[in-house]
Amino acid sequence: MTDPRIIDGKAFAEKLRASLTQIVTGLKQDHGLVPGLAVVLVGEDPASQIYVRNKAKQTAACGMRSFEHRLPADASQTALLSLVAQLNEDPAVHGILVQLPLPAGIDEHAVIDAINPAKDVDGFHVVNTGRLATGAPALTPCTPLGCLMMLQDRLGDLSGMEAVIVGRSNIVGKPMVALLLSANCTVTIAHSRSRDLPAICRRADILVAAVGRPEMIRGDWIRPGATVIDVGINRVPSETEGKTRLVGDVAFAEAVAVAGAITPVPGGVGPMTIAVLLRNTVVAACRQHGLPEPAI
Ligand code: GUN
Repeated sequence: MTDPRIIDGKAFAEKLRASLTQIVTGLKQDHGLVPGLAVVLVGEDPASQIYVRNKAKQTAACGMRSFEHRLPADASQTALLSLVAQLNEDPAVHGILVQLPLPAGIDEHAVIDAINPAKDVDGFHVVNTGRLATGAPALTPCTPLGCLMMLQDRLGDLSGMEAVIVGRSNIVGKPMVALLLSANCTVTIAHSRSRDLPAICRRADILVAAVGRPEMIRGDWIRPGATVIDVGINRVPSETEGKTRLVGDVAFAEAVAVAGAITPVPGGVGPMTIAVLLRNTVVAACRQHGLPEPAI
């Protein structure tokens, strides 16, 4: 039997993709609309190649159109900006994702700035970050939105809860603050320079770990019964010679003994991220066609 404290991100993502598949079928039948997602990969980073392949596979499996664009590692910023401009104009493309990190020499901010905010399914454009921060309709970064969905599914109304986020990245930490604030949590954002990080973490009803440091958050940093969301995906050497394994930012074996609920690594937040990307593409397509947004 599975441990009821473990939040099964894989099952949650499957459920979300099943709803999306139904919605996409309806959009096709009723409006002749097939949402399309373009993913751009520059270079040959092995982890990025796996992500991009999975994104393409899952997009198609939900009945949407997937467009994959690959540029060589030595592609110029001009070439990438010209591809983004072409995708901005393409009516079959409702969502654009440029896989990060980009090779040295390409300015990430310039590339994100060039994406039409209405097609920015990563939610990284300043227009979307500004809208999210001010409570206006935005496209919201996939990983933190997936975390919020899992928290609300597990805990219901989050009003009044103490949330502590460890990590202040633009992709996870900062948008997570806006999302948890909008869900009426009391939010603390901590980071590597915070004084007495264990004491800050112990205050949390909801602890979101997004620091990128393997197993940094120990069991005795966790308040008994707290809900722990581990966003970390860190590859470390395994016991078997020459092999590696994935671990989160939380020392799972210690944490699971204390937490009320916890996302495992792998199988927690990771699977949700792509499912939310597909959700954002459907939302973007509906908005671009003036259709009501699906309630997901
Ligand atoms: N690289 C790692 N995570 C992400 C993400 O969520 N979006 C993009 N564009 N690149 C990534």
